[in-house]
Amino acid sequence: MIKPDAVADGNTGAILKMIEEAGFKIVAMKLTLLSDERAGQFYEVHKERPFYNDLKKYMSSGKIVAAILEKDNAVADFRKLIGATNPEQAEEGTIRKKFAKSIEANAVHGSDSDENAQIEGSFFFAGTEQFA
Ligand code: CMP
Repeated sequence: MIKPDAVADGNTGAILKMIEEAGFKIVAMKLTLLSDERAGQFYEVHKERPFYNDLKKYMSSGKIVAAILEKDNAVADFRKLIGATNPEQAEEGTIRKKFAKSIEANAVHGSDSDENAQIEGSFFFAGTEQFA
């Protein structure tokens, strides 16, 4: 997912270019706006965390780009490409190093396992013909 700050700043194209150049195939994609409630559902695993309410507010503050990506070793390779959650700790050349503003407004989200990638893909694309 490309998060609201990155979409609002006009960084969608540059981020997608980095993703494609790293060998990922975009198999489904959409620009959409999450409600506070839907953002809360997406990040349900973090609901006990102190940043949960702020995270919901931020993730529903503007449009996001949701995408399903395909590649061998996709989860690990994508996490390497995006860099650490906190951009101050993200390595040079990563998407977050380049585009993230803070630990919250960190430009992109990547699934942390194949299982969660399936769940998160369904969250945005279930019932659509792109989601095969
Ligand atoms: P993401 O990888 O999408 O997973 C959870 C999100 O919560 C994270 O990126 C950030 O956008 C946000 N977040 C805000 N504060 C924190 C924090 N202290 N630790 C981890 N994630 C945070």
